[in-house]
Amino acid sequence: MKRMAIYPGSFDPITRGHEDLVSRALTFVDEVVVAVAHRRTQAKGGLFSIPERVAIIEEVFADEPRVRVAEFDGLLVDFARQLGTHMVVRGLRAVSDFEYEFQMALMNRQLWRELETIFLAPDARYSYLSASLVREIAALGGNVRGCVSAPVLRALGERYPHLAGAAPE
Ligand code: PNS
Repeated sequence: MKRMAIYPGSFDPITRGHEDLVSRALTFVDEVVVAVAHRRTQAKGGLFSIPERVAIIEEVFADEPRVRVAEFDGLLVDFARQLGTHMVVRGLRAVSDFEYEFQMALMNRQLWRELETIFLAPDARYSYLSASLVREIAALGGNVRGCVSAPVLRALGERYPHLAGAAPE
């Protein structure tokens, strides 16, 4: 049977750190579903809309048939059940991530006993990287060429003129 894991997140936008995590997950599962969460409880809409995030991620993994991109609205456990998997992967960049991630993993387990969260450490090169920093740096005229892939840069270039036509580092 095909082993599938869900990699849920906001992915606003997807960074090279996220991509690194997907590659690591693909070393032990047959398929990774990158699942963009609608955040109903968050007042702010984010930089990219959900369909934009999905389209960007699809472009990033266009050459990787083992990656599927989806969006979900509601609880992660319900989406996991719907997909028929009980494996969730999340990244742990630093100790500061631990509390939030541990809380979510245990709460998800409380909601569905069979849901397992597998934590992966990204490559050290990406341990400082976050989507919120990418958004902030891009908005303030900074260089994010080393942080994201070409499809993300293209999308950022449509919002921020200083990134228009920029190539990844
Ligand atoms: O990348 P993020 O924003 O840290 O991802 C958080 C995410 C989307 C994984 C988390 O908020 C989530 O799973 N949301 C779906 C709703 C849900 O199940 N909430 C209860 C989590 S215990």
